[in-house]
Amino acid sequence: MVAPLTPSASDRIGRIVVLLSGRGSNFLALLQAIEAHRWPMQVVGVLSNRGQAGGLAHARTRGIPVQVISHRDYPTREAFDAAMAEVVGPWQPDVVVLAGFMRILSADFCQRFGHQMLNIHPSLLPSFKGLHTHQQALEAGVTLHGCTVHAVTAELDHGPILAQAVVPVLPDDDADRLAARVLTMEHRLYPMAVAAVVSGRCRLDNGRWHDVGRGDFDHDFHACLFAENP
Ligand code: GRF
Repeated sequence: MVAPLTPSASDRIGRIVVLLSGRGSNFLALLQAIEAHRWPMQVVGVLSNRGQAGGLAHARTRGIPVQVISHRDYPTREAFDAAMAEVVGPWQPDVVVLAGFMRILSADFCQRFGHQMLNIHPSLLPSFKGLHTHQQALEAGVTLHGCTVHAVTAELDHGPILAQAVVPVLPDDDADRLAARVLTMEHRLYPMAVAAVVSGRCRLDNGRWHDVGRGDFDHDFHACLFAENP
C-alpha cells in the first residue's frame, strides 16, 4: 500500500509540526536550514510534554504557536496521545518531526500520523536502540557510530530507515565527546531528511523509503553522510 503522504504542490508551503521535550538543538537546526536554504516549508506548531523544554524558546522568539500538554495530566498513554492528536491534527502537518521527544507513542497515534512522522535517533540503527546510545557504542567497541532518521512506528526505534550519518569512534572518546560529534551530524542530517520528505522526493511505500529523485523543490539529499575526519 502506498502511504498517503501529502505531496506539496509546487506553490505550496510544506507544513511541519515539531514534538520536543528538551533543549531543541535539532529543532533549531531545522529552523536555521529552512531559513538558510529558503525551503518552502514552515514549522506551523510545536508541541511539548514539558513546559520547561528549552526548545520552546526557539519557537516563541519566531512567533511559532506552542502547546504544552503534560503526560502527567493523563491516566494512560492512550489518553495523553489522544490529547496530543487533538492539537496536532488541526495544524494539518505534512510531516510530524520528533526532535528529542521523550515519550513512547501509542499505536493509535502512530497509525494516525505514522506515515508522515520522522524521528532522529543517536545511533546507527538497528544497533543501540533506547537510551545511552553513545555509552552502548563505546561498550560494544564499534569503530563507527552515528545517527539515524527513521519513520516512527509503534515499536521503539524500529521504523523504516530514511538516512544515516556516520562518525568514527576515536581512541580517547568518552560518551560526551562522542555525543557531541554525533550531534553535529544530526544537525546536518535531519533538516535534509525532513526536506526530502516534505518535498515529496522520499516516500514511504510498503514499509520502505523510496527516493524518487526529485521533489517539489530543490534540495540536497544523501541517504548517508560521513563526518569529515576530525
Ligand atoms: C538527540 O540526540 C536526538 O538524536 C535524540 O534526542 C536528542 C535531542 O536533542 N532523539 P535536541 O533536543 O534536539 O538537542
